[in-house]
Amino acid sequence: MDHDTVFIASDHAGFALKEYLCAGLSAQGLRMEDLGPESAESCDYPVFAHKLCARVSAEGGRGILICGTGVGMCMAANRHKGIRAALCTDEFTARACRAHNNANILCLAARVTAPPLAGDLADIFLRTEFEGGRHARRVALIEV
Ligand code: RB5
Repeated sequence: MDHDTVFIASDHAGFALKEYLCAGLSAQGLRMEDLGPESAESCDYPVFAHKLCARVSAEGGRGILICGTGVGMCMAANRHKGIRAALCTDEFTARACRAHNNANILCLAARVTAPPLAGDLADIFLRTEFEGGRHARRVALIEV
């Protein structure tokens, strides 16, 4: 990875999964930076998406955003220039969004994806490198 910190944030629906992933990924030796929230009290997912994307835009590296469906986080994240956020619920997509799309944000759906699978998706996302080549041309065409 091009940055040794993984940023993570959620809303209230994703809070428990955020805590689970933070613990698991930290135990694997990854440096996690938890951008909140600090409790499962109701909050607004765009606030946390924008906070995390500002850090990834400024510093590089990768982030994980979690809400109930992953959809709101993904919509908010993809408003940021240079952010390529991918909502993943399966292993194939978690791998392809890195290898082909050079995604820098993984969006997870806490109300859809059980914690063990979410952990596997995060591992795949963080370990898979971008393949470049023809995919680099296509990724460059995404920006408007
Ligand atoms: C919160 O109830 C829910 O709307 C949110 O977590 C997310 O799924 C939005 O896209």
